[in-house]
Amino acid sequence: MLPRWPANCHDRATAVKSKIIAAPAGAAGRFLPPPGCARDNGSDDERVVTPLSSGTAAALHGRLRAPGDKSVSHRALILASLAVGRTRITGLLEGEDVLCTAAAMGALGAGVARDAGGWTIDGVGLGGLAEPEEILDFGNSGTGARLVMGAVASHAITAFFTGDASLRRRPMARIAEPLQRMGARIVARDGRRLPLAVIGAASPLPITYRLPVASAQVKSAVLLAGLNAPGETTVVEPQPTRDHSERMLRHFGAALSVSDGPEGRRITLTGQPELKAADIAVPGDPSSAAFPAVAALIVPGSQVVIEGVGVNPLRTGLFDTLKDMGAELSFANERVAGGEPVADLAVRSGGLSGVEVPAERAPRMIDEFPILAVAAAFARGRTVMHGLSELRVKESDRLSAIAHGLAACGVKVAVADDTLTVDGLGAPPPGGADIATRLDHRIAMAFLVLGLAARRPVRIDDGATIATSFPGFVEAMNGLGAAIAPAAP
Ligand code: S3P
Repeated sequence: MLPRWPANCHDRATAVKSKIIAAPAGAAGRFLPPPGCARDNGSDDERVVTPLSSGTAAALHGRLRAPGDKSVSHRALILASLAVGRTRITGLLEGEDVLCTAAAMGALGAGVARDAGGWTIDGVGLGGLAEPEEILDFGNSGTGARLVMGAVASHAITAFFTGDASLRRRPMARIAEPLQRMGARIVARDGRRLPLAVIGAASPLPITYRLPVASAQVKSAVLLAGLNAPGETTVVEPQPTRDHSERMLRHFGAALSVSDGPEGRRITLTGQPELKAADIAVPGDPSSAAFPAVAALIVPGSQVVIEGVGVNPLRTGLFDTLKDMGAELSFANERVAGGEPVADLAVRSGGLSGVEVPAERAPRMIDEFPILAVAAAFARGRTVMHGLSELRVKESDRLSAIAHGLAACGVKVAVADDTLTVDGLGAPPPGGADIATRLDHRIAMAFLVLGLAARRPVRIDDGATIATSFPGFVEAMNGLGAAIAPAAP
């Protein structure tokens, strides 16, 4: 018997959401988190996998709205929780990752409630986080876990953090190291991974920290910890990474200075500001828009508009690269939402050519390499992507997952150190493969997109993870004319 679609993927996100909706709202009292966020979010013992297949699609046509930006959604929940007063958030991504952060902020004392129009957060004020009674479970979300670790590190409380099998494999030393310098204690399994405990500093110290890796998560964790430290906390990033935290800190009233110098970008936050509640409209996620955009490029005859896509220049490396490859992409109706630039993205199918992607561009498109590699498989000639070492520590080892998946689909691909080379066929690749998605939503979506224009259908072993970032992905794609369906287990 075929497994049901979309029951699994959709239901699990809804289950997490419904507990939040049902939970006590508003300023009165403490929000209790939905018990065991990650038990609904894919703990190994209870995960229900959803194999899917995608086959040759007719031309894709129509308009869709990009789901809310995941990075902005996490930050909105965390900063609103640290502010004084009530913040209204609209357009929040209601994916599993973000719902885990919502539950965690509730467990830390914020009032977190959802109604038909959006989310209401009653902040506790800086220094006001309460010690959670339960383990904070972040499911698949590295961003949620790492940013909340930062916020907790400068509060005199102890909190325990865990996540699903993918998150428990990911490195946390990069976060623990600066937070320890600020006075927090981190007690971790083998010193470096979840589960771990953060024992927050009673008297946190401001620091100057040079990022050893280009990571917006590390930068944001340090800035969030610095909020409750006296004096100035500075982060120096050799390569600029997404600046949603900086923009949103200002939005809530923090004083922040940013300057570019020979050592890189220097971000200085003045500690202990009075953060005031400030409503936020979350823009659409360019990292999610990337999947229908590339699908429209590779399925012949397609024409698609994706509305409300965030076009923060530190996130648009993929769109720049696709344009370099000859893609017909255009942005219209540019506006500002939640302090972020937003536009409607129009895409038409057309031939692509291979290009060289410089290492300096990687931080501006770090989550988009799986789908760029798919576009590269259809392009004429070779695409070489440099500076990809960070892909090894994402939800899966993405360099390996991309290389294995493309090779299984009949595409010539090579990995040397942190460089990925894809020899595009200038025509649809054979496809016909069974892809191991390794608990990685972006690997799942990328290979479903490949299957839409390959010569034979592509099967993925599990599409349930897609709900972490793009709930309703299959329905949205099929609404455009795609052919994604449940596959036999
Ligand atoms: C994110 C930063 C990036 C990105 C992740 C979201 C963020 O991670 O891959 O999906 O919201 O700050 P790194 O900081 O590890 O590069």
